[in-house]
Amino acid sequence: RPVVFSGMQPSSDSLHLGNYLGALVNWVALQDTVDPIYCVVDLHAITVAQDPAKLRESSRRTAAQYLAAGIDLERSTLFVQSQVPAHAELAWVLGTITGFGEAGRMTQFKDKSQRYGAESTTVGLFTYPVLMAADILLYETNLVPVGDDQRQHLELTRDLAGRFNSRYGETFVIPEAYIPEASARIYDLQDPSAKMSKSAASEAGLVKLLDDPKVTAKKIKSAVTDAEREIRYDRQAKPGISNLLDIYAAASGESIETIAARYEGRGYGDLKKELAELVVERLEPFRARTFELLDDPAELDRLLAIGADKASERAERVLAQVYERVGFLRRR
Ligand code: TYM
Repeated sequence: RPVVFSGMQPSSDSLHLGNYLGALVNWVALQDTVDPIYCVVDLHAITVAQDPAKLRESSRRTAAQYLAAGIDLERSTLFVQSQVPAHAELAWVLGTITGFGEAGRMTQFKDKSQRYGAESTTVGLFTYPVLMAADILLYETNLVPVGDDQRQHLELTRDLAGRFNSRYGETFVIPEAYIPEASARIYDLQDPSAKMSKSAASEAGLVKLLDDPKVTAKKIKSAVTDAEREIRYDRQAKPGISNLLDIYAAASGESIETIAARYEGRGYGDLKKELAELVVERLEPFRARTFELLDDPAELDRLLAIGADKASERAERVLAQVYERVGFLRRR
């Protein structure tokens, strides 16, 4: 079975609809046919300042949302990145074969460093994609289900794996991105030229999974559209409507054509109202289950510790091979 690895940064209040449709739904669907490993990437989270107590809480919240979405521990390994030291260890080694210029070309780094300013742009933020490469390469991963925004990081991961292999001998499996079209990029409901993101200036266009259903419905019904009346898919001319159709398709499993045909001759109001109902209905059991899991943090921690043991065993094997290849003395 192909190995699948993916992760998300813990976020304090809730994951958003982009995380859910862009990644989590695919993680769940893949479970039947692959060997899945899913991670809460708290080492990545501290590349921006975090309140320690909140970070702990965010990691639990994020793990709870994976489980509530349908990640099943019988089939999947679920763990928190900082509990498996091999991630940081391999990242160091990979950093030594990453070009300074190469890392500097990462568009996410360029965007973030511009936004944060020179003072808050840390070396950790710069080497962030190298840590991500380590996450993936430690598990001999074949497929990485992510949203489109991670495509460049995946390319870097593949380059580093290939470079290490040619310098030190075949060690790493070269992974591939898994980015289904419809859900690859969910946009902000108020600004359909920007991807939905927790760092958006305003939360009006950000659908948070754990929000009150009334808030979610209102955000969807207030989504920005255009001055025409026709419901059809056209990314360039009709970004708002196209985004709603993408969300509809990803949330319902129907094709864009089927949905567009159903709304032919009907108004934007109908589409938004029914999409709001669909999303709220879909998220309802998810929310309830998340809060239920969060009621018992000790049990959640116990499940995560089991996941960390399973992940460590696999990661240590690959790391030992890397250390051997690089020429480190074996510890007796
Ligand atoms: P993160 O935490 O920003 O996002 C988690 C996942 O959600 C996807 N995503 C979206 N998909 C569609 N539309 C959107 N608007 C949208 N916003 C976010 C992301 O593509 C991602 O799949 N660096 C990664 C985390 C990471 C990782 C890894 C992923 C660390 N190590 C190893 C895969 C494998 C990140 O910050 O994702």
